[in-house]
Amino acid sequence: MCGVMGYIGDENAQDIIIEGLRKLEYRGYDSAGIVMVQDGKLVVHKKKGRLANLEKELEKHPNESHIGIGHTRWATHGAPSDVNAHPHTSMSGDVALIHNGIIENYLEIKEWLQREHGSVFQSETDTEVVAHLISVLYNGDLLDTCFRAVEKMRGAYALGILHENEPDKLIAIRKDSPLVIGLGEGSNYIASDIPALLKHTKDVLLIENNEIVVITKKSVTVYDGQRNVVERAPYHVTWDAATAEKEGYDHFMLKEIHEQPKGIRDTLVSRLDAQGNVKLDGIRLTKEDLERLDRIYIVACGTAYHAGLVGKYAIERLAKIPVEVDVASEFRYRDPFVSDRTLFIAVTQSGETLDTLAALREAKNRGARVLSVVNVVGSSIARESDDVFYTWAGPEIAVASTKAYTTQLMCLYLLAIHMGRTLRTISDEAYALYIKELTAMPDRISGILKQENAIAAIADGLHRKRDIFFIGRGLDSAVAYEGSLKLKEISYINSLAIAAGELKHGTIALIDDDVPVIALANQDALFEKMLSNIQEVKARGARVIGMAKAHNKAIEQAADQTLWIPDCEDIFTPLLSVVPLQILAYYVAKLKGFDIDKPKNLAKSVTVE
Ligand code: AGP
Repeated sequence: MCGVMGYIGDENAQDIIIEGLRKLEYRGYDSAGIVMVQDGKLVVHKKKGRLANLEKELEKHPNESHIGIGHTRWATHGAPSDVNAHPHTSMSGDVALIHNGIIENYLEIKEWLQREHGSVFQSETDTEVVAHLISVLYNGDLLDTCFRAVEKMRGAYALGILHENEPDKLIAIRKDSPLVIGLGEGSNYIASDIPALLKHTKDVLLIENNEIVVITKKSVTVYDGQRNVVERAPYHVTWDAATAEKEGYDHFMLKEIHEQPKGIRDTLVSRLDAQGNVKLDGIRLTKEDLERLDRIYIVACGTAYHAGLVGKYAIERLAKIPVEVDVASEFRYRDPFVSDRTLFIAVTQSGETLDTLAALREAKNRGARVLSVVNVVGSSIARESDDVFYTWAGPEIAVASTKAYTTQLMCLYLLAIHMGRTLRTISDEAYALYIKELTAMPDRISGILKQENAIAAIADGLHRKRDIFFIGRGLDSAVAYEGSLKLKEISYINSLAIAAGELKHGTIALIDDDVPVIALANQDALFEKMLSNIQEVKARGARVIGMAKAHNKAIEQAADQTLWIPDCEDIFTPLLSVVPLQILAYYVAKLKGFDIDKPKNLAKSVTVE
C-alpha cells in the first residue's frame, strides 16, 4: 500500500515529511516523492527507488517550506519510475496531489479530459487524471471543486491535495483507502496510517468514507458527503510505533489475513465493467487465441503453486482446456511439451522467484505465450511476460503468504470465466451466477474472520502434536496442500496433505490417536465420500477437525470439532476454505511462541535456485 505524509505548520515541512515516510517504509514501495509550497508555487521532487534517492535529489534544492505532502508509491497502474511516482500535477502545475488506492474509471475521465480540455498526460497512472480533473474544475474554491470532482470518480482513494491559489491549506479526501489526520499545536498532519504521526502527536482524527477535510495550521474541518460539517472527537493513540505498523495486530500475517476481503475486492472490481463483464486489463485472449491452444501450463512455487492447482480445476471445468500444473523447479528440467500453441501462466507474489523466472524463460524460448499473475508491479517476472494480470493484494510483508494466495485465486477464476464465456463453454446464466458469487466473496470472508476466536480455540492442543494430516477431495485437496504448508512453515509441525481417497493406499498406516486430521468436506458433490473418510480415520483413533459449508450440518456428528464456511458454489470454495486454515496455522504457531512473520530458514522472496 502507498504511504502518505503531509504537514502544515511553522516548522520545516521537508524534514517532517521525509521522516514520516520513513516510518511507513515497512508498507513496501517502489518510488517516493514530495510536493511543497515554495514562494507561492508548488514544487515537486520525485524519484524511483528508495527514499534515499529522493533525499539525494532534495539536497540539490534546499528550501524553507512549511506546507507539503509526501508519498511512497506501491505501483498499481504503471511500472515504478520517476514519472509515475507521486505527487502528480495538473498541466499548468496549479494542482499537485498524492493518492493511495485505485480510480476504477480513470480511463473514462482521462478520455473526457483529453477530448474536452485537450489534457496531455505525462504518466501511465490513474492518479495524474485526478490532478488534471481538479485543475479543470477549479472555480476559485478548492473545497467546492473537490466535492464536484469526487462526483465523477469511482474507486478507492485517499487523496492529499494542494492548489497554488490556496497555498495555506491542505485538502484530504477519503473513500475506502486509509487516511488519518494528526492534530498538533499550531500544526496539523495527514497520513495513510498512524506510525508516521506518533513522533509529533498521539491525537488523531480517523476520517470516514466520503469525507473531505480542510486542514490549515490552526484548524481541521471535516465535511461529510453532503457538505455538512462533521464534529468528531480525536482518538488518542495508545499504541507504540511497532504495534501501529501492524495496525494493532500482533503480526503482519494476521493483519494480512484480515486484509483479504479488501484484497480480493480490489482485485475483482476494476476487472468488471459497468455491465458486469470481465475485463482482463487489456490482455487479449480471443476465441481464436484460445482455440489454437493445445495446453495451458500453470507454473509456480509454494503457495502460488497451490493456487495453480485451483486454477487448473477452474480453467478445465469452465473453459474445457487441458491444464498442467507444475512446480517451477521441476518444469524446466523435464523437457516439457511446449510450442507456440502453449499458454504458460506463471503465478507469483514477489515476481522475483528465480525458479519461476527460469521456468518462464524456458517456456518462452520454446515458443509459449507467457501470462503472469503477479503482485509486485514492475517485478522481473512481470517485465518478462507477454501479459501481466496483477493481483491487487498490496504489499505482503509476512513470509507466510495469505492475501496473495486468495487474490491469485481471484485472478485465476476471472481468467477461467473469461475463457469459458469467450469459448461459449459456459452459459450466460452460469456466467452471471459466477460473477455474482465472486462479488459476494469479500463479505463471505469477512464472515469467516468473525469466527477467529472459535478457530483459535481449536488450535489449542494441536500445537503439542508432532504430526497433523490435512485431507480433502477435488478442490479441497488443493486447499489441503495450502493449509498444510501454512502450518508447517510457521509452527514447524510436520504436516501431510493428501487426497482423502489416497489414504487407504498406504498413509493411513500413520494415523493413530496422536495424529489429528483436518478433513475438508466443502464440495457438496463429494461430501458423503468425505464423511466416509472421516469415519476411516476416526476408526484409527484420530481426532478429526472437519470443515464444511454451513448447510452440511451432518459434519458435526462425524467430526470432533467443525470449521464452517458460508454456502457458495463448489468451484469457489477455495476462496473461503483456506481462511480458517490460515487462522488455525497462525494460532498454533502463536501458542508455540515462534516468530510468525519471519519463520526460521525462510525468505519472503526466494531469488536463488
Ligand atoms: C508461502 O507461504 C511461502 N512463503 C512460499 O512458499 C512462497 O509462496 C513461494 O516461495 C513462492 O513465492 P512467490 O509467490 O513470490 O513466487
